[in-house]
Amino acid sequence: MDKLRIRGGRPLEGEVRISGAKNAALPIMCAALLSAEPLSVTNVPRLMDTSTLTKLLGQLGVEVKRSDGRMVLQAKTISRPVAPYELVKTMRASVYVLGPLLARFGEARVSLPGGCAWGPRPVDLHIRGMQQLGAEVEIEHGYIVARCDKLKGATLSFEISSVGATGNILMAAAMAQGKTIIENAACEPEIEALAEFLASMGVGIEGVGTSRLAVTGTDRLHPADASMIPDRIEAGTFLAAAAMTGGDVEVTSVTPGHLDAVIGKLEEAGADVLVHERSVRVRAPERLNPLRVTTAPYPGFPTDMQAQFMALLSIASGTSTITDTIYQDRFTHVAELQRLGADIRVEGNTATIHGVPSLSGAPVMATDLRASAALILAGLVAKSETRVSRIYHLDRGYERIEEKLQGLGAAIRRVRGA
Ligand code: EPZ
Repeated sequence: MDKLRIRGGRPLEGEVRISGAKNAALPIMCAALLSAEPLSVTNVPRLMDTSTLTKLLGQLGVEVKRSDGRMVLQAKTISRPVAPYELVKTMRASVYVLGPLLARFGEARVSLPGGCAWGPRPVDLHIRGMQQLGAEVEIEHGYIVARCDKLKGATLSFEISSVGATGNILMAAAMAQGKTIIENAACEPEIEALAEFLASMGVGIEGVGTSRLAVTGTDRLHPADASMIPDRIEAGTFLAAAAMTGGDVEVTSVTPGHLDAVIGKLEEAGADVLVHERSVRVRAPERLNPLRVTTAPYPGFPTDMQAQFMALLSIASGTSTITDTIYQDRFTHVAELQRLGADIRVEGNTATIHGVPSLSGAPVMATDLRASAALILAGLVAKSETRVSRIYHLDRGYERIEEKLQGLGAAIRRVRGA
């Protein structure tokens, strides 16, 4: 298994181009199941997760071609509407095939994703939503088994804002008879991108970008093409790295508006932030100020930046707190940061971080995608060497991260099969 070796203490400097968003690419690729027409997308990041999904769609019978930065997907027909456990267990987002398979083919067998490193991640809202659109849904042998003659529009109101359930219901409603209203829908930019993509295929959608979506289903979908929005979490990760290392970094090809909450916290921490039309530049302060951070659905502070900010605040001057309201127990990175000398205590869904003057390098283990990013950030400031193992987590969601960091002057390298 590959490892990363990092020598800390160098300020990051320069420009880095941000890739397309993983969490927009995954649902948009699944939208290809809705139509026999070719769909063309550009700026799709080269990640483990997009490869896993390409494999799953291929198994379903979708033709996926990739060349010169363009991916063309076409589901003229499908073989069997089944998403097997072997693939779904490696990537929860595979559940996004449920809505489109049900909407177009009237049946779907999708393995339940199961839990993740930080606890249960139910899909009850996805299932209930499909039932409200008229599908029969049962759980059999670890699979969601769903059937319907034709989905029918309905009014749904989510008790909690869910990115995944909103995306799945949006795609199901795209071919349902009549109108579907989704209240308390997720407003994440990735959902906005999916809604815009479905609209470009011919689906009637009102309220894009708001928490109330009205979808008018259609059977006449036409070819479409789109470019993936930038990955705001990748961008946020590099901006935090700049602020932590005493650096000066500009992230390019980004949509600054998607980063407001993160930029606000970096400014509060004392960083100097310059926002341009398609880029954001961060210049680090002498010493970071402590913060109080509470995660929330978009446009609140993203839970996917929680671990990275925990690494940042571990070297701030004073005591900070981070409360995760989305995932009560998303703290598997704490024990590893403590191994690097961080002073962190967790009670319930709040971590209290007492800033320390410095961290010291050690072997650490990645436990999930964003936790691995946090360990890299900590390694970039730690004294001597940090070795991060289980970085397959990282490769799921960051495209060529060590090369990008090397481009900014970081002493980081991948050791294959170490
Ligand atoms: C998406 O996951 C992202 N993944 C996650 O990013 C991100 O952490 C999350 O949204 C929140 O922003 C993708 O887009 C592929 P949710 P998702 O449904 O859709 C509860 C990363 O690092 N819930 O918005 O699975 C759930 O347990 C990943 O890139 C139910 O109770 O998240 C959580 O507490 C990690 N029942 C809350 O809602 C359901 O049926 C929000 O989850 C669905 C969700």
